[in-house]
Amino acid sequence: MNILILGSGGREHTLAYKLKQSKLLTKLFIAPGNAGTQQIGTNLALNPTNFEAVKQAVLKYKIALVVVGPEDPLVKGIHDFFLADSALKKVKVIGPQKMAAQLEGSKEFAKEFMMRHHIPTAKYQSFTLKTLADGFRFLEGLNPPFVLKADGLAAGKGVVILNDLKQAKAELSAMLADKKFGDASSKVVIEEFLDGIEMSCFVLTDGKNYLNLPNAKDYKRIGEGDKGLNTGGMGAVSPVPFADESFLDKIEERIIKPTINGLKQDAIPYVGFIFIGLIKVNNEPFVIEYNVRLGDPETEVILPRINADLVALFQATANQQLATFDLQIDKQSAATVMLVAGGYPETYKKGDVIAGLEHQSDSLVFHAGTSTNNHQIVTNGGRVLAVTSFGTDFKEALKKSYRHIEHIHFEKMNYRKDIGGDL
Ligand code: AMP
Ligand code: GLY
Repeated sequence: MNILILGSGGREHTLAYKLKQSKLLTKLFIAPGNAGTQQIGTNLALNPTNFEAVKQAVLKYKIALVVVGPEDPLVKGIHDFFLADSALKKVKVIGPQKMAAQLEGSKEFAKEFMMRHHIPTAKYQSFTLKTLADGFRFLEGLNPPFVLKADGLAAGKGVVILNDLKQAKAELSAMLADKKFGDASSKVVIEEFLDGIEMSCFVLTDGKNYLNLPNAKDYKRIGEGDKGLNTGGMGAVSPVPFADESFLDKIEERIIKPTINGLKQDAIPYVGFIFIGLIKVNNEPFVIEYNVRLGDPETEVILPRINADLVALFQATANQQLATFDLQIDKQSAATVMLVAGGYPETYKKGDVIAGLEHQSDSLVFHAGTSTNNHQIVTNGGRVLAVTSFGTDFKEALKKSYRHIEHIHFEKMNYRKDIGGDL
């Protein structure tokens, strides 16, 4: 079958790499893709949120299955668009419809879902401009730090954590009155601060059954020792060493099962990935957030650990046959280190030539922000490459990635040398 992946990051290159290994694949297309996906399939220069352009490509290239990488097209309703179009109805889409995508697209929707289904999460209240004064009073009754979340999608920047009450009030005003994040902050969720260690769980559901994919821990801050600005993710390890069997059981019983059952009870159709951001507080799991897609760079460590045929897995998902699917998860650990452009996550340069990509080892180099220019591979984003390796434990895997990185170079290349250092 012909498959189209929507997106252009390391997550999408990893999906392409795994799909390419399948004998069930005929032709692979990636829109818009990057220099890495170009070596595996055909890149299509179109924007995944331009549904009409996606439709034309699907018809032209006889695509039977679309895998949606990022959240934006899902929150905007790409799956609903396919279901409503007579020419696209039979095309399978991996990624939930708009209603379920609100689990990521609206913090308030996600919080209400968790309350309704008794899923452990931080206590909260939400506010609008009309209830700004109530928001101030709510903040006064909380202990610092204060956690303020723009309700809608804000490109990963919508969560602000402050220690000072005055600053927290000013931030709440900035979000609600000054529309700091535009429409995304016309509603703000204020919640209790949870102190613990974070991890990510991944579930794939066909709407009836589900499979637990490998879990991972990512490193969000730009600086070593988890300091500095938030990024999309600077590295990841899988599995998470502190998530032992009893903790994973708690996650399954208190979070994953109630989430899947809750979707059914609420009659919310869901075909695709559920990414649950968790925090472990005193050995108890709490949900920080839901995402309706795979994580990046978590994908770069979880997909390589799945030995099953990814095309077969997606077919089983689309045909509601996950109940009997065997994932065959690799016992080895995987780790990935992101190479980023100097200045990222603030301003950075694009177009610098990347050297050393020809170096061979048993590491996998996934492209994130790359493109080609005059037959050379150049930087084209803040996060440029993800170097993934396997090992008997995450330390061995990381050692291999760091060794491989010594052969790669571009101007002002930056990366964290302490991935996994807190484990
Ligand atoms: P989110 O966009 O909801 O994942 O939030 C971004 C980051 O803010 C999370 O990865 C956490 O590190 C942090 N965070 C969010 N909510 C809380 C909370 N209630 N307590 C502590 N940290 C939080
Ligand atoms: N690495 C976090 C995310 O993909 O949201």
